Amino acid sequence: MQLQFVWVLTLLASCLALQPPADWVNTEFKRTLDLSKSYVKEKYQLTIKNIADSPIDTYYFALPNYVFDKISGFSVTSTGTKEALSTELLTELTEINGEPLINYIKVQFPQPVSPKSTYHLNINLIISDFISPLPAAIGLNEDQTLLLRTFKKPISAYKTFSNQLFVTGIGHAQELAIEGHQIEDSGAVEDNSLKYEFQEVEPLTISSFPLVYSHQGPLPKIIKLDRSIWVSHWGNSVEFEEYYELTNIGAEIKGGFSRADFMKSKQAIRTPHVLTVMELNLNKDSHDVYYTDLVGNVSTSRVFSDKIYIRPRYPIFGKWHYNFTLGWTNQLNQFLDVIKSEDIYSLTVPLLNGPTDATYDKVNLSFYLPEGAKVLEINSPIQYESIEEGYELSYFDLGNGHTKVTLTFTSLVDELNVVGINIKYRYTTWNLLQKPFNIAKLLFVALLSYFLLTKIDVQLKAKK
Ligand SMILES: *[C@@H]1O[C@H](CO)[C@@H](O)[C@H](O)[C@H]1NC(C)=O
Ligand SMILES: *[C@@H]1O[C@H](CO)[C@@H](O)[C@H](O)[C@H]1NC(C)=O
Ligand SMILES: *[C@@H]1O[C@H](CO)[C@@H](O)[C@H](O)[C@H]1NC(C)=O
Repeated sequence: MQLQFVWVLTLLASCLALQPPADWVNTEFKRTLDLSKSYVKEKYQLTIKNIADSPIDTYYFALPNYVFDKISGFSVTSTGTKEALSTELLTELTEINGEPLINYIKVQFPQPVSPKSTYHLNINLIISDFISPLPAAIGLNEDQTLLLRTFKKPISAYKTFSNQLFVTGIGHAQELAIEGHQIEDSGAVEDNSLKYEFQEVEPLTISSFPLVYSHQGPLPKIIKLDRSIWVSHWGNSVEFEEYYELTNIGAEIKGGFSRADFMKSKQAIRTPHVLTVMELNLNKDSHDVYYTDLVGNVSTSRVFSDKIYIRPRYPIFGKWHYNFTLGWTNQLNQFLDVIKSEDIYSLTVPLLNGPTDATYDKVNLSFYLPEGAKVLEINSPIQYESIEEGYELSYFDLGNGHTKVTLTFTSLVDELNVVGINIKYRYTTWNLLQKPFNIAKLLFVALLSYFLLTKIDVQLKAKK
């Protein structure tokens, strides 16, 4: 019994602790932080050199766990070939001073890199939920400033030589001092970016970097999106319907509701950190566009065939909520490939169409395929949390109903709208014929009941 316990403990410990071998050095380490959006984008351009005695095909890219946990999307490519490299997000951490602090993205090269040779890597990260307004509440006429907690010197499993950090996409910025410490290595402004440079940095060096910077726009956050995609072969159409629960995680307005309420009308429109209008990219040639909220139709929108600008019923101040529904229709053949001989179809739709600059906590993406369709395969370049298959009855469905598949995603951002989600399904000609047949059947039933009713009526009359 005791033995078993020890064994479990050892296993846990070995799961946790990871110390990548010192096979590499970073000869160049360039990191660019882009703070122009409501979330953070980081780009790393690395030149690494194999200092081991044998060829190596694995590189461990380190990130502090508070960043790792907030990654919305990432890509790792070879600079030369632009080819995406195979990666794995490791759950094992490295401890620093007894604290599990460092996570890794394990990168696998197509061919091992020989000793003394170098390799060039590009790593892009999108990190959401990583910035917050500071101060949390401001006056309507004050500038909004945001706090980013990041790190200044490169954090790596390997020793780093020449390295630079650039911070772009900001107006004015101010580095905060950590209590009881002086600010070390203050940066220089160069070409509209803040630049820091260090010569030699030891592995796993951690240097905090709290930065406060001005950011004029609102921070639209979608707490929940239910995105439904109704596929009709019979009508050659795809209907999109999206229900949004939105908030603005930017600075609150000092003085609370009544004052803000009073200001609502004119001044708010001109306050940049208040959300007053949203731009959404629709698919090409969208039609039958509608926009409703709890109260009803919202007429204040401008629709183009591939874009819609919507103006919420009221300005959305920091911490305010607004829920709304948006819908539109496209032609099916815009998204559908037919793999003819076997009645197999391949449908690819964008992951998102939502407002620019938005981040998402939770997204349910539901496909409603025609009745009788059988899902064969789902391909999503972005990992989903869960998948659920079922049926949903709708108008004119007489059998099981539409085949419904729901994928659940968390932590997305607007730029992932370029990602296509592909679903392959089998749907036979017989299935296609079923629909009109069902309607005919329904009409027949309806006629029959009319007939029966009439008949009863007649009999009643006859009785009199
Ligand atoms: C709108 O969304 C918020 C945030 O998710 C939610 O708490 C609220 O209940 C929703 N309001 C309505 C009327 O559905
Ligand atoms: C909402 O607007 C659409 C078209 O813009 C219209 O067809 C529909 O009847 C309106 N609904 C309500 C409840 O006003
Ligand atoms: C969205 O997903 C959650 C969790 O899977 C589920 O409880 C909820 O009903 C889903 N909503 C829709 C509209 O499918």
